[in-house]
Amino acid sequence: MTTSRRHYHITTFGCQMNKADSERMAGILEDMGFEWSEDPNQADVILYNTCTIRDNAEQKVYSYLGRQAKRKHEQPDLTLIVAGCVAQQEGEALLRRVPELDLVMGPQHANRLQDLLQQVFDGNQVVATEPIHIIEDITKPRRDSKVTAWVNVIYGCNERCTYCVVPNVRGVEQSRTPEAIRAEMEELGRQGYKEVTLLGQNIDAYGRDLPGVTPEGRHQHTLTDLLYYVHDVPGVERIRFATSHPRYFTERLIRACAELPKVCEHFHIPFQSGDNEVLKRMARGYTHEKYRRIIKTIREYMPDAAISADAIVGFPTETEEQFENTLKLVEDIGFDQLNTAAYSPRPGTPAAVWENQLSEEVKSDRLQRLNHLVATIAAERSQRYMGRLEEVLVEDQNPKDKTQVMGRTRTNRLTFFTGDINELKGKLVKVRISEVRAFSLTGEPVEVREVVSV
Ligand code: SAH
Ligand code: SF4
Ligand code: F3S
Repeated sequence: MTTSRRHYHITTFGCQMNKADSERMAGILEDMGFEWSEDPNQADVILYNTCTIRDNAEQKVYSYLGRQAKRKHEQPDLTLIVAGCVAQQEGEALLRRVPELDLVMGPQHANRLQDLLQQVFDGNQVVATEPIHIIEDITKPRRDSKVTAWVNVIYGCNERCTYCVVPNVRGVEQSRTPEAIRAEMEELGRQGYKEVTLLGQNIDAYGRDLPGVTPEGRHQHTLTDLLYYVHDVPGVERIRFATSHPRYFTERLIRACAELPKVCEHFHIPFQSGDNEVLKRMARGYTHEKYRRIIKTIREYMPDAAISADAIVGFPTETEEQFENTLKLVEDIGFDQLNTAAYSPRPGTPAAVWENQLSEEVKSDRLQRLNHLVATIAAERSQRYMGRLEEVLVEDQNPKDKTQVMGRTRTNRLTFFTGDINELKGKLVKVRISEVRAFSLTGEPVEVREVVSV
């Protein structure tokens, strides 16, 4: 079979984990001779990499799929794939719902795309959702950016937060070896990437499943050890990591972040609720006092650190008073950014079948009030940048103003300034901040830092 000049299209929903998986799957498809098509209607292989964290994320996929399923009746050799978390959650049920599908594959099977597609081309309809040991990907991902890159360090999640589908759809924790992670980062450094974000749903759990304990009885491989191990990779100038769980965020990790110059002063540590009773029912395993202590320690070591988080409003039985404890925490901490969501009952999770679910009206009212507070506080937090000199890693052109480029500060604030993207892409530029908004900044370039690549 000739695969040259055949086209593929991928639409990705959901979190950074899914985006990283999509980049690897795109790499596999290109390795097989397929070419990227921006327009799904011109593609011979269409892959939806799906998310099911909330009901609206899941529903979006069905409307996209409906359109392509129709197209398949006119173009029978069109290959339709659903990958990711909806695929894992629904499995064969998806085939009953959309019989036109050729392949349903869970997130653990992303690296097996070539094998699975071969089975499809041999005439089979394939469902790959059984739990497996994730194999190292030997093909090169097709990365969207040439400046920043994601590197998986741990797959899956062993927590059991009572609202969350992730453990069901992503499976148990599987850490990659420090050697494999470092090798991937070295390759990125050679290719000119300047920033790496280490990824895991619960990244602080890194290494718990790897063999080896220290004489003091702790795991030999922890996120902290990993940061020290990869820190000197040539070419990589910035290192970030996400997502952190408050339960495992140690002072040792905070000290490492303060000590290691490439690790950026931005921490994404979801708290979900500011009320201890709600936290308990969510099975999060910490109190709001513990959360506050972590942030306090971070700020003792790195006074200017940016803190972002996720929060859920309207968890079953949440009272007005308990919700106000979330508002209070948000106000006290002073978040630089917060992802907020109204609680959405998810299939197969304990909280979905509890009594005392709150009405949509109450949830959306609380969400609005929280969002309003977040915007006010983020705007206040932005004030501190006014007049300051910030280092910005240039990623792209400003899509709304072609005379400007955009990038991020070490603290992850989006920053715009006048400049030519052809000259500045991938450069670290000192920028004098002259305008501040809640979630972005504008400034004047002062100096381009010359990075000597080794
Ligand atoms: N592992 C991360 C978050 C993963 S999911 C953590 O432990 O925090 C990303 C975010 O989606 C969560 O932080 C939570 O705020 C939100 N979320 C997860 N399940 C949800 C649900 N059922 N309803 C609403 N929001 C949810
Ligand atoms: Fe979901 Fe909790 Fe795991 Fe985060 S830690 S992915 S919220 S179960
Ligand atoms: Fe969504 Fe799956 Fe990520 S459910 S948030 S894509 S882990």
